[in-house]
This record gives sequence, structure tokens and C-alpha cells, in this order.
Amino acid sequence: DFQTEIYARGAGGVVPTLPLTFDGLQAAAERVMDPKAFAYVAGSAGSEATAVANRAAFAGLEIVPRHLRGVADRSLEVELLGKPRPTPLLLAPIGALGTVCPSAELEAARAAAGLGVPMVLSTLASVPLEQVAKTLHESDGGAGWFQLYWPNDNEMALSLVRRAEQAGYEALVVTLDTWTLAWRPRDLANGYLPFLTGAGLANYLTDPVFRARLKASPEEDPAAAVSLWASIFNNPGLRARDLSWLKGNTRLPVIVKGVCHPDDARIALEAGLDGVIVSNHGGRQIDGARAALDCLADVVDASGEMPVLFDSGVRTGSDILKALALGARAVLIGRPYVFGLALGAGAGAGHVLRCLLAELDLTLGLSGHAGVGDLSPASLVRAGPG
Ligand code: FNR
Repeated sequence: DFQTEIYARGAGGVVPTLPLTFDGLQAAAERVMDPKAFAYVAGSAGSEATAVANRAAFAGLEIVPRHLRGVADRSLEVELLGKPRPTPLLLAPIGALGTVCPSAELEAARAAAGLGVPMVLSTLASVPLEQVAKTLHESDGGAGWFQLYWPNDNEMALSLVRRAEQAGYEALVVTLDTWTLAWRPRDLANGYLPFLTGAGLANYLTDPVFRARLKASPEEDPAAAVSLWASIFNNPGLRARDLSWLKGNTRLPVIVKGVCHPDDARIALEAGLDGVIVSNHGGRQIDGARAALDCLADVVDASGEMPVLFDSGVRTGSDILKALALGARAVLIGRPYVFGLALGAGAGAGHVLRCLLAELDLTLGLSGHAGVGDLSPASLVRAGPG
């Protein structure tokens, strides 16, 4: 539909004003963003080898088209946590989005809702989770999951969980790979960490348990609030038994993000969790870590009936198709929508999602699949002469 709309509009002399490729979006975003905020979004850990590997892994798999299969009626629908969803996409959790555009989380929430794409809201949001939930619930098609950075203070963690439950989030996503921030040379060179300026701390600053830990309110003494945040964020002590504890202490489904090894998927399964997200945080945490896509099939094998989602390096509709073919139930979109926000707020994020969905639908049909359910590893081969 988006393609038809563009060509029809093109005949009238109107074509999209925003770029249609990831490289185009990134280059255009670099021209308009604050240079330090751009570096924070675009950058990865160390030499950025894992970010490169994430892309190379997609290039290393090729789609083998099949024809004559009757693909006139196509559907992108998938089932996620027991609910049908019109598309296999979600917005990945992104911290400190307020550095990208004003009210970024609210803009993203409206854009995602308009397409029936659930939004995973970061703990490190620039707007309190209740406000984002309200925007999601006021928009037709809005759905939110809450991403938890588990602080080293369980009372604080539980307070965030209770707030997410009360606000109507449909799942908790516990990110395992970022119990501390990695070595990120671009940010180190800029001496830039948005949270230390108070950006992305809205969920903490509005939290009753967090506030009770402070002598003066964050409004009176912002520096003390930032240093309390810095002292509770790092949580290297998290263990498998904590996941079982969380599962027993919330009525929400619990999904873990950052799983790359099949044994970690087995731990999630044993803890009775509801899903895993294969991800290496877009290459932002471990330089030299294996490409996330190359980890996917083994995690799917180890996960049985438990759904496996995927992110890291997804840039095109055919990337989405490849991840789904390897067994991902759904795919999270990270940097592409962030650059969309930078270029055109909610409309920019919506543009990026529409491009990805249109390309996915066309690629699915052109390669002989009527629906996401028709995909399997047999839809792909390793690149090369075979
Ligand atoms: C992230 N990511 C992330 N993940 C998470 O669980 N909580 C968070 O707050 C953030 N914050 C964040 C900020 C920025 C600027 C980026 C780029 C990423 C990781 C994110 O959810 C996702 O795993 C990656 O973005 C996927 O990689 P690509 O597609 O961006 O390469």
C-alpha cells in the first residue's frame, strides 16, 4: 500500500521527503542531530566490530525465491503473548530518546500505535512510563511492554514493576546484557553520557522508592539524584534465581533480552519465563561478540515452545524476513526508528516503520510466501555458490 501510495503521489509530483534507506536516514540524521547525541545513538562498543558483524550476518544469508504459489492474499500477522498482532515488528527500547527529539517517547508511541506495532519502553525513558502508557492507550492500536534495567535494589526494581503493571503494560522485558555500560569510544571521546545530565531518568525521578532514598527531592538537588541513579544502576550480581523471583512477583509475562547462548534460553525456560529476545544490544555492549543473527537458530532450538524474538542489525524488510525464517516470532527495530524520530518526530518514525513493512510484504510475496507462517529456515541458504 505504501509503495502504491508513493507512486500515485509521485505522478502528482510528491515523493517522500525522508530517505528510504538506513544509510540515507543515518546520514540525514547526522546533519540535524546534536553531534554528541548522534554519536551516542550511532556508536557501538570498542572497535564496533560486532555492529559490523551484525550486518555481515544478514549478508551471509540469502533468500531463495519460489514462484507460482498463489500469494495474492498476504498477511504479516503474528501471535505474540497470546494476542494476534498485525505485524511482526516492535519498537526496541531506547534510552534517553529525549536527546533525539522533544517528547520522543510520546511521538514514537503514537507512530507505533498507528501501525499496530507494540512499543517496548525503556527504563531510561525521558518521559515517565505512566504518561507513555496513557498516550498508547489513547491511540487506537497502542500496546506497550516495559523494559526493566534491574537496579541493584530490589525494592526499587519492584516499584518499577508495580508501576508498569498499574499503567497497563502487557509484558516486562528484562535486559540482561547491560548491567553496566560498555566501553564506547565515541561517547568516551565526547565525555558524554546523557544520564549524567539527567536525561533519560524520568522513571527514576518520579519513583516513590527512588525519591524516598534521597535527602532532598530531585527538584531541589538534581546532582544528588543523578549520583543515586549512578549508584543503583550497575547490577553485576543478577542471577537466574532472581528471574524466578521476579516471575513469582508479577502478573505480567516476563521476557529476557540479550540472550545469545542456548543455555541462557534454557535458564529462561526453567525459570518459567514467557520469551527471550536474541540481541547483542546492536553491538553496543561486547566488542567482538558473535553476530546476533548467527546466535538465533541455536536459541530457537533450545527454546521449545517459548517464543524467541530478535534484534540487532535489522535495517530492511528482507532482514526482517531472514530473522523470521530462522525462527524469530517477531523483530525489534532499534536505530532506524531513532533516526526517523530525529528527522521527523512521530511522522519520521512512522515513515521508517511503513518502509520496513512495505518492503517486508513485497519481499515475502516475491519470494513465494503468503504469510509469515510460511517462512522456515528452508527459505534461506548460506551466501555463496552452494
Ligand atoms: C539501545 N538499546 C537499549 N536496550 C534496552 O534494553 N534498553 C535501553 O534503554 C536501550 N537503549 C538504547 C539506546 C540506543 C541509542 C540504542 C541504539 C540502543 C538496545 C536496543 O533495544 C536494541 O537492542 C538495538 O538498538 C538493536 O540494534 P540496532 O538495530 O539498533 O542495530
